[in-house]
Amino acid sequence: MFEKMRLQKYLSRCGIASRRHAEDMIREGRIKVNGVTVTEMGTTVSPGDLVECDGEPVAPGEKPVYIMLNKPAGYVTTVSDPEGRKTVMDLTDGVNERVYPVGRLDYDTEGLLILTNDGDFAYRNTHPKHQVSKTYIAEVEGEPSRETLQKLRDGVMLDGRPTSPAKVELIRQKKRCAVLRITIHEGRNRQVRRMCEAVGHPVRSLKRVAIGGLRLGSLKPGEWRYLSAKELKKIEVDRNG
Ligand code: URA
Repeated sequence: MFEKMRLQKYLSRCGIASRRHAEDMIREGRIKVNGVTVTEMGTTVSPGDLVECDGEPVAPGEKPVYIMLNKPAGYVTTVSDPEGRKTVMDLTDGVNERVYPVGRLDYDTEGLLILTNDGDFAYRNTHPKHQVSKTYIAEVEGEPSRETLQKLRDGVMLDGRPTSPAKVELIRQKKRCAVLRITIHEGRNRQVRRMCEAVGHPVRSLKRVAIGGLRLGSLKPGEWRYLSAKELKKIEVDRNG
């Protein structure tokens, strides 16, 4: 049994979508309550109400699951793609719950992506106010100087405002490219690629290797595994700490 709650919260509790995405679904007229399409954001639902999404009844109760996927390049991090590209959902064979990605990685970016059916968790982890740090390995063109690396750390202008302080280490200098480890605390669109481009070192390849203290480890591209309770707790602590 659940208490009376707003429709978008109910949908996220049921694992249909994050709260923000649930609002879009309501606006799009995909949700019915007791047979009536609802587009009002203030609607509440009570025990006994029949809620439907795209004509299918939805109810809380599915156990929450949390998955770590090593996303390969060449996949979009949406549940479906209007252009018909492969999505990360194509890699979740064996997952019985209706999970969806928490946050995004670019089509060409590899690495650590979390999927869940827990809308509240997804909401907490994508809200700009409570961003957990994200660590990337970037192979960039050229030979970044010390000054350039410092610029990346201090902040570069993107969309008219500086990026917040980042941790940047040169891991390896090769002939015409360098490997950097970059940790950022924001989630702006294509942030790492644009930061590197802005200082004259376009990214050749990008991989996310950690979210807070959660590490990708030895998971191969395209593989997934469940997160342990300990790992989950770590993310919550990193976010709040
Ligand atoms: N920064 C990027 O540029 N791309 C990603 O996918 C993630 C962070």
